[in-house]
Amino acid sequence: MSRARGALCRACLALAAALAALLLLPLPVPRARTPPPALGPPPRPCAAPARPAAPSLLADDVFIAVKTTRKNHRPRLALLLRTWISRARRQTFIFTDGDDPELQLQGGTHVINTNCSAVHTRQALCCKMSVEYDKFIESGRKWFCHVDDDNFVNPGVLLQLLSTFSPSQDVYLGRPSLDHPIEATERVQGVRTMTTVKFWFATGGAGFCLSRGLALKMSPWASLGGFMSTAERMRLPDDCTVGYIVEGLLGVRLLSSPLFHSHLENLQRLSPEAVLQQVTLSYGGPENPQNVVDVAGGFSLQQDPTRFKSVHCLLYPDTDWCPLRKQGALTSRIHQTGQSWSPAASGG
Ligand SMILES: *[C@@H]1O[C@H](CO)[C@@H](O)[C@H](O)[C@H]1NC(C)=O
Repeated sequence: MSRARGALCRACLALAAALAALLLLPLPVPRARTPPPALGPPPRPCAAPARPAAPSLLADDVFIAVKTTRKNHRPRLALLLRTWISRARRQTFIFTDGDDPELQLQGGTHVINTNCSAVHTRQALCCKMSVEYDKFIESGRKWFCHVDDDNFVNPGVLLQLLSTFSPSQDVYLGRPSLDHPIEATERVQGVRTMTTVKFWFATGGAGFCLSRGLALKMSPWASLGGFMSTAERMRLPDDCTVGYIVEGLLGVRLLSSPLFHSHLENLQRLSPEAVLQQVTLSYGGPENPQNVVDVAGGFSLQQDPTRFKSVHCLLYPDTDWCPLRKQGALTSRIHQTGQSWSPAASGG
């Protein structure tokens, strides 16, 4: 009631001010205490504040789930392990569907066999997301981020972005999959009527993040296999189901960030300088080999068809296999032998 009256009051004052201005009478115009919400189409663009909120976020506060499948371990995951994961070992957890002793040896407890089916079906993908969610909740970490095995993650930029929010806020951050909200029909058991829900969702192929606060609110529909039942009931893919729970059921809006990228967009549109400032990148793969980010570096397209090695070497030129490093002469090789990916050994 009082809030409504306050709003009315502000409207009156604004009207009086406008009238006064019209009559050229000097009158102090009260400043609006809160700016009006932006009226752009949803989802709200995510404008990161210049300064991160205190207390600062630590790398270990973030849980990065990489979704893969047994047959991608060599063609895709190996590249990620060699590049960005080598710089984010303690944050990164690999969710796969088959045992791989070699990978297990490298990753220890950070490699999780979900026991989900290896087929690329909606059910199998939802099964993995369900396990990712449960493992995140169990981890006690502040932020959940999901990426695919064709994503490059810039852990520094990710941390910077997340540190502008509080993990206890409701935050769902990513790239909207479509330029319009998706519509889904809800079948209610035993009832003939169907209800339609409209919601936005972040495309899983570009990666997305959820705050712990929001993830906990999702638990009635997501925890301990609930995610799969929710997806099944709505006949939705994994990333859509996240959007449905967040927007459709909890009424929390997706924050759209242009810093997440999937193989579905034109990656050459990113300027070479901007490439290093993105949270995630991707590549077109065999179906669309030309769709890669435009970076020059020590590697030719043949040597580095995904451009991930080139990006990695621009970000971390001190990596032992980077071309600049090779020219850069004598550095401790002893130091570098300790760089293999072994979160279990590093206590992560
Ligand atoms: C998958 O199965 C193995 C063997 O039964 C089990 O140890 C492991 O915990 C299961 N993984 C998950 C995520 O439940």
